[in-house]
Amino acid sequence: MAPPGCSHRGEREPEPSSRPRVASCLILAVTLCAVLAGFLSVSGVGMLVSSPSSSSSLAQRLSTGIASETAGIAVGTRMPSVERELDAARGAIRRAARQRSPHGGHSGCEGNNVSSANWRRFIGEVEYARLERVYRNPSAFYRSYVEMKRRFKVYVYEEGEPPIVHEGPCKNIYTVEGRFIEELELMVPPPRAAASAGVRTWDPARAHAFFLPFSVSQMVQLAYRPLSYDLAPLRSLVADYVRVVASRHPFWNRSAGADHFMLSCHDWGPHASRGHPELSANGIRALCNANTSEGFRPAKDVSVPEINLYDGDTTRELRAPAPAQASRPFLAFFAGGRHGHVRDLLLRHWKGRDPAAFPVYEYDLPTGAGTGDGNPYYSFMRRARFCLCPSGHEVASPRVVEAIQAECVPVVVADWYARPFADVLRWETFSVAVPVADIPRLREVLERIPTPEVERLRDGVRLVKRHFTLHQPPERLDMFHMILHSVWLRRLNLKLNH
Ligand SMILES: *[C@@H]1O[C@H](CO)[C@@H](O)[C@H](O)[C@H]1NC(C)=O
Ligand SMILES: *[C@@H]1O[C@H](CO)[C@@H](O)[C@H](O)[C@H]1NC(C)=O
Ligand SMILES: *[C@@H]1O[C@H](CO)[C@@H](O)[C@H](O)[C@H]1NC(C)=O
Repeated sequence: MAPPGCSHRGEREPEPSSRPRVASCLILAVTLCAVLAGFLSVSGVGMLVSSPSSSSSLAQRLSTGIASETAGIAVGTRMPSVERELDAARGAIRRAARQRSPHGGHSGCEGNNVSSANWRRFIGEVEYARLERVYRNPSAFYRSYVEMKRRFKVYVYEEGEPPIVHEGPCKNIYTVEGRFIEELELMVPPPRAAASAGVRTWDPARAHAFFLPFSVSQMVQLAYRPLSYDLAPLRSLVADYVRVVASRHPFWNRSAGADHFMLSCHDWGPHASRGHPELSANGIRALCNANTSEGFRPAKDVSVPEINLYDGDTTRELRAPAPAQASRPFLAFFAGGRHGHVRDLLLRHWKGRDPAAFPVYEYDLPTGAGTGDGNPYYSFMRRARFCLCPSGHEVASPRVVEAIQAECVPVVVADWYARPFADVLRWETFSVAVPVADIPRLREVLERIPTPEVERLRDGVRLVKRHFTLHQPPERLDMFHMILHSVWLRRLNLKLNH
């Protein structure tokens, strides 16, 4: 029997009875050579194969690739070469990036003309000047997103069983794990005629990226002995999974994991990924715990927002239209536990100091403090101009997403935190960053921000809100697609901020 899953869409769709598989070993081997040759031909572009540990084995694999080059080319005319597609996308995005402005396009290439009309269709009725403030390079992002929708294909490994593989949590702070896994798992193979239905492909020869659909949160639930602090079982589960897919399919070994990705929102996601050295060294790790001081590499890994959906959906209070600046009497708000040294510092300095203007609580939120009914926590967020988002035991905090949804400017107090979607978004235009060492000056820092700048920050928050919202099914530019887009950029090995 299928477990309930995260879906609000009723029963899971029935398992497809027969999944298209690669027809024969011969085609598989030949395609592999074609793909490999392409992979290596672009490897000079960036860091995908820059790891010294993997370069010698890649050289060995290259010789195998060259030996069958002729066969590879013959097949290439029949089959789309994933590397050729990636190259075409890179070219289009680079041209769009140079163009920058939607009006001053001189590229002469109409396909890359990000006109205001395109933007209106893409993102809604928004002044271009506002977009240019918040997005590093709006036309590059537009082109990259369009190329992703058109081309990006992800192969999801079918090995493994729930509850550790193929599903994850949906109603706690690790929700994004369950939701992301499930959105991919729920996709069914298209009828062969409509082969471009979604991002998932059942034909590994067409895949640009390979997803390892395990859930570290589920591993913690099932394999971790409470209070043992022994993470070895998590590491061996990850190691075993990678070993299984690497022995049954040729895809892991041909890239040493560089075109594979995992997603984990659990604090221990990074630790678990170290179970397989190639996964942490080469693989794309999509993590909520994106601590650059603990080995998170922003150019290779993907920072994922933490989102807490207690009842499986965005809280009613956060979906309601957010109050205007004038109805926000509080300068800043925080409530939460004393988890870790950052929280401790924050609470020691600011707890209970000035509840009328700068409410900081350690869990003891006064009941009835909100306006109207509903959870006073969200009511405070909706009446504050800034929302404090300090690290807990780990760098990420679901408060960032909650603040954005409440249109309260997030104040990120998190050293070493690689912000989600930072290759697309300028975080400084919709959030404030305060180093942990400046916690004693926190109030002063915020009071010094002039009112028009606070308004601009709030405008930025409103613009990026859609990127920090989960929908079922996923919607254009929402969190699901932004995570996918981050993986797509890593796979392209391209930066958008030029
Ligand atoms: C870009 O689009 C605008 C509006 O449709 C058009 O006026 C302009 O000529 C186009 N520029 C190029 C280079 O195609
Ligand atoms: C990939 O490499 C591992 C380790 O060298 C090996 O055990 C495995 O059989 C290889 N996989 C394939 C499909 O050849
Ligand atoms: C991030 O990593 C550093 C270095 O390991 C560590 O000191 C810190 O506690 C980690 N977490 C947070 C929340 O800063």
